[in-house]
Amino acid sequence: MMHATGGTDKTLLFSLITTDWQIHREMLSAIRRKVFIEEQGVPEALEWDDEDPTATHLLAISLAGDPVGCARMLPDGRLGRMAVLPQYRGCGVGQALLESAIEWFREQCFESIRLSAQIHAVGFYEQAGFMAFGAVYDDAGIPHRDMVLKLSR
Ligand SMILES: CC(C)(COP(=O)(O)OP(=O)(O)OC[C@H]1O[C@@H](n2cnc3c(N)ncnc32)[C@H](O)[C@@H]1OP(=O)(O)O)[C@@H](O)C(=O)NCCC(=O)NCCS
Repeated sequence: MMHATGGTDKTLLFSLITTDWQIHREMLSAIRRKVFIEEQGVPEALEWDDEDPTATHLLAISLAGDPVGCARMLPDGRLGRMAVLPQYRGCGVGQALLESAIEWFREQCFESIRLSAQIHAVGFYEQAGFMAFGAVYDDAGIPHRDMVLKLSR
């Protein structure tokens, strides 16, 4: 699906693709390497796990064909690895990825979606209706909180 976002100074055309690790591994891993490993300092060994091959992935690609952002939906109802490259932030890509992920879980008949949010991103997920619960905890050196979104039928 093609999206157009932004105002006068930040307009971005991008498409969202629902894909898998086998097909788009190179683009997905390039985004996550840049954001989680290089920008946030997540250890390489924690970033890559054995859930990627069985997950469903979302990939945002610019009109020019460049990778922009991604997210990962796991078969147990967890959403994660939400990342938008720094130069494309604030253009609505994250929100489009989140809405698309919620729609995917709804279509799969999940009753709820769970995620582990970095503290700075709790507000981002709250805008889509997620609620934080439980204590703050450390994951890969970054404070996190669990969040859940109940899906109505
Ligand atoms: C969090 C992230 C995915 C948001 O992507 P984005 O494309 O910049 O987000 P959008 O432009 O779609 O913003 C959507 C809305 O959320 C808000 N928002 C964006 N990032 C936010 C944040 N960190 N905290 C609170 N609100 C945020 C925006 O202000 C916007 O609100 P508005 O529509 O009222 O203006 C992006 O900042 C990112 O990749 N961060 C680094 C990786 C990361 O921390 N991922 C989350 C792991 S849990």
